[in-house]
Amino acid sequence: MQNFDVTIIGAGAAGLFCAGVAGQLGLRVLLVDHSEKVAEKIRISGGGRCNFTNRDTTPANFISDNPRFCRSALSRYTPRDFIALLEKHGIAFHEKHKGQLFCDRSAEDIIQMLLAECDAGHVTRWQPCSLKAIRHLASSPREISTSSYEIDSDRGVIHCAAVVVATGGLSIPKIGASDFGYRVAKQFDLPLITPRPALVPLTFDEAAWAPFAQLSGLSLPVKIETGNKKDKIAFLEDLLFTHRGLSGPGVLQISSYWESGTPIRLNLAPDADVADLLTSAKATSRKLIANELAALVPSRLADTWVAQGAALGHNWARPVNEATDKSLAALAERLSRWELTPTGTEGYRKAEVTAGGVDTRVLSSQTMESKQPGLYFIGEVVDVTGWLGGYNFQWAWASGFACAQGLAAKLLAPSP
Ligand code: FDA
Repeated sequence: MQNFDVTIIGAGAAGLFCAGVAGQLGLRVLLVDHSEKVAEKIRISGGGRCNFTNRDTTPANFISDNPRFCRSALSRYTPRDFIALLEKHGIAFHEKHKGQLFCDRSAEDIIQMLLAECDAGHVTRWQPCSLKAIRHLASSPREISTSSYEIDSDRGVIHCAAVVVATGGLSIPKIGASDFGYRVAKQFDLPLITPRPALVPLTFDEAAWAPFAQLSGLSLPVKIETGNKKDKIAFLEDLLFTHRGLSGPGVLQISSYWESGTPIRLNLAPDADVADLLTSAKATSRKLIANELAALVPSRLADTWVAQGAALGHNWARPVNEATDKSLAALAERLSRWELTPTGTEGYRKAEVTAGGVDTRVLSSQTMESKQPGLYFIGEVVDVTGWLGGYNFQWAWASGFACAQGLAAKLLAPSP
């Protein structure tokens, strides 16, 4: 039997960070992970360079059933705080795009920094270590400062005053993702917002997609939107054609908002007035319509676009001056307001994150403690999902920090 103040389950971004802070505040911390290696998602993130935060983080960059929940933690541990930590460790970084910060060298720098912070807090780490059962032994808050949880592990029984669940979401199961956190929530009667893949490529009916599958690998800037007038959301980002559908930053962003069975809308030439351009071209040019379009979009896309005309009752494979106004207007409308309904997503195999999770209505926004005394949830297992661009790691740091502060306040407070 081993005694700790707190057992943190999951040595990913949130768990490692929380462990380091809690340990340095004076708590006896055990950090366990069922994988041999810690922080596999940090290792593969941002193409190996880890987009570790976003300078412009605001609560509006997060999706949750309870959108105000994330405000408190995000305001108490900001991107500036995490940048200061990197500077303390001499880690070089750069801004790439829209406030997104990446390591100059490698994501491994972030992992080593988090491990060093854990060492500074004398955190005990067990990995691989599998956990079997968690039991709550105390029922009154007074008893919480003694051992109140008992956990069966393959390294023996653990006794601790508090348990922090930091097991992340379901995406990329082959590197350690599990539903452990959701099962713990259910065990203690804490509700879940149904988990779903997010930041994920969208797929389409194979036959309907056939004309576009040949564009696989093609990327271009677009405006992409979903939702109705009231809840419409749009992003100006790159789109990538794939064999099975659409990917790229714009599609990943919209996928987190997309509801099954509803359409998405794309403007493939967001910086141009396509109708106006084609009308002027008709008056002055004898070029093929595809050649005129190639000034706005990649020529492979222009060729595919005009080839669709026949199926839609138009002849777009002709010189622009020979086309009717109606047919040019239809072409412009289809290019700037292409509406299509995905059949699904590439699922957890390819999703960067899991949206949904432990319902924040049963968590304290100050400390991440749940209604079950002494049981905390942090990071992606919670129903707070960031946009693409470093926001999910910022949530991992911020929720981990709030939790560590809350644990210290509760467990290190002088006894009355
Ligand atoms: P995380 O998944 O990091 O850690 C959970 C840990 O719990 C893992 O170590 C796992 O092994 C462990 N665990 C699970 N089940 C367990 C069990 N039963 N027992 C013990 N341990 C268990 N975000 C971002 O902001 N910038 C980026 O650049 C990227 N890039 C990116 C790329 C790819 C390919 C993916 C898949 C994801 C990203 N993300 C990202 C998202 C980001 O990685 C993610 O949101 C955070 O890692 C979440 O941190 P957590 O600590 O909550 O979970």
